[in-house]
Amino acid sequence: MAKHLIETGDFTKHEIESLFCDAHSFGDGRFYRMLQERIIITLFFENSTRTKSSFEIAAKRLGAEIVHFDVSKSSTKKGESLADTIATLDAMRADIMILRHERDGVPRMLSKQVNCSVVNAGDGRFSHPTQALLDLFTLTKHFGNVDGKKIAIVGDIKNSRVANANITLLQRFGMDVTLVAPDYFLPKTDLQTTQNIEEVIDSVDAIMSLRTQQERHEKSTNYRLDEYAKKYCLTKKLIGDRDLIILHPGPVNRNIDIDDELLLDPRCKVLEQVKNGVDIRMAVLKKLILG
Ligand code: NCD
Repeated sequence: MAKHLIETGDFTKHEIESLFCDAHSFGDGRFYRMLQERIIITLFFENSTRTKSSFEIAAKRLGAEIVHFDVSKSSTKKGESLADTIATLDAMRADIMILRHERDGVPRMLSKQVNCSVVNAGDGRFSHPTQALLDLFTLTKHFGNVDGKKIAIVGDIKNSRVANANITLLQRFGMDVTLVAPDYFLPKTDLQTTQNIEEVIDSVDAIMSLRTQQERHEKSTNYRLDEYAKKYCLTKKLIGDRDLIILHPGPVNRNIDIDDELLLDPRCKVLEQVKNGVDIRMAVLKKLILG
């Protein structure tokens, strides 16, 4: 049976550690042709810049052929059900489908109906496993061992699949996670929470900032973005000379999530996350296809 990556729990800790070993060796930026004559299809029902191009570059660096399913020109616009579209593509014998969808649970559901592997590239508010893996990989590269390190996740946690995926994964690797957000962005949780970032800033080793997921807000989510930014934007002034690192999955809303000045600071790892993302996705594609 084909193996899937729908949430990080689909891989054991040992499997994740060996992914990280592979990702380290792919970090040299070279081409490895180990997936020649393999077909990878991407299906993005939601917008994407980095995840889609990162998978594409990962596939090309492994020598695979990649096909992009163009949702806007497809038969899903002619009334075909998503399950039938997926069955059609599966019948063309792809090795992997990489799927992003606005509804929670769609990749898991479709993975049960196909012969190929399915990779979840983000579904609704539920999960985004390759993002969480690349975030953990970035933290591991910086700290060595992350066990016992403290991280604050700041922003629209309630609507973020990145936060949801990271909360589970980072805790599994021993990190202490605190959520920092106004009450309208806080999910129900057993974790430590605060509305005031200054309460935790002296005790954390890393801060993960998140975009406000406006496309997922109900009309009743009534807040002023400028008021939000005043309290939750990470600024150079707020961070001072503290010894900590800043992560953000992108896309960054400048001066709302992180200010211009801090984005240029070497403690801000946004572009390193992007680089690590390609290496992690190469390792994931290799694992799912070659085992
Ligand atoms: C995220 C996503 O789409 O879930 N972006 C990404 O994949 N790096 C986060 C976001 O859109 O805010």
